Amino acid sequence: MPPKNVPSAETPSPAGKLKNLQIVRTVPDLRQQVQEWKTAGLTVGLVPTMGALHHGHISIVKQLQAECDRVVVSIFVNPMQFGPSEDLDKYPRQEAQDAAKLDEAGVELLYAPSVEDMYPPGFLTTVSIDKLTDYMCGAMRPGHFDGVTTVVTKLLLQCQPDVVIFGEKDYQQLTVLKRLVRDLDIPVRVVAGRLVRDEDGLATSSRNVYLTPEERKIALEIPKTLAKIAHDLEQGRTSIAAAVKQGRNHLIAAGCKEVQYLEVRDDETLQEVHDLSRPCRVLVAAIVGNTRLIDNMPIRPKS
Ligand code: PAJ
Repeated sequence: MPPKNVPSAETPSPAGKLKNLQIVRTVPDLRQQVQEWKTAGLTVGLVPTMGALHHGHISIVKQLQAECDRVVVSIFVNPMQFGPSEDLDKYPRQEAQDAAKLDEAGVELLYAPSVEDMYPPGFLTTVSIDKLTDYMCGAMRPGHFDGVTTVVTKLLLQCQPDVVIFGEKDYQQLTVLKRLVRDLDIPVRVVAGRLVRDEDGLATSSRNVYLTPEERKIALEIPKTLAKIAHDLEQGRTSIAAAVKQGRNHLIAAGCKEVQYLEVRDDETLQEVHDLSRPCRVLVAAIVGNTRLIDNMPIRPKS
């Protein structure tokens, strides 16, 4: 389905002030540069983002720089992955600041296409993944993962990188996108980006700017609750069901408006688990004020 909401034009970047970063907006310009690098025998990595870059993004950029010779970062606030009542219009757009951060980090190329170029009139294609998108964020945000898999398929075909990185912050997204690459034989290596937290423990996110100081205090209970669940289960102190129930009650008592899901699942497949015989992960989505926050932590069973 073509996107309905087209956001307003972006602020142009102060290209003159950039040391090294080039900015391209079209597929031919992107491909020309990537092809030049490949012809010179260099490997190319892609970091897809929606901008409003923070140190979580920069961390995965640096992680990818260690894996390839040249890094392309894409910035595209993808209308197709936002629901009708979600924050597409107010999602932070700050391309000039983002470009400066990428330049500082030594990124060679920023690809920032327009909505009209990504989804020209008459666009009819959706890339959709079954089952893996039926639960958690997929259940809470109908159509969201179709938007993600469609745009990421396009970005991978447009750029044709050797390696791509997706952060563990969005753990279900990472799992879905690994499956996309495998199922469609897309010739790219997927790297999992380490989850970055702010100093107070909150998972770093572009949406954290929406939180008031009071809401931020409430939000901090999210990583604390995940850590407690992981710890208690690792110590064999409680059952999965009891740990999750207690965690949910705690988050509501702490002031979360809603806990959309709080689940323990298989670390690799994200299937439901009934014991900790394999590595698992606890994953959460909760609403604080009007902001939806997600987080996750690994659970390592005692060997
Ligand atoms: P965005 O939310 O901008 O995130 C871009 C990438 O940064 C994703 O792979 C995300 O997992 C990673 N990331 C965000 N916060 C992180 C953190 N605190 N630690 C580690 N990695 C972090 O995710 C998207 O954009 C979009 O859905 C996208 C994949 C670009 C498709 O539109």
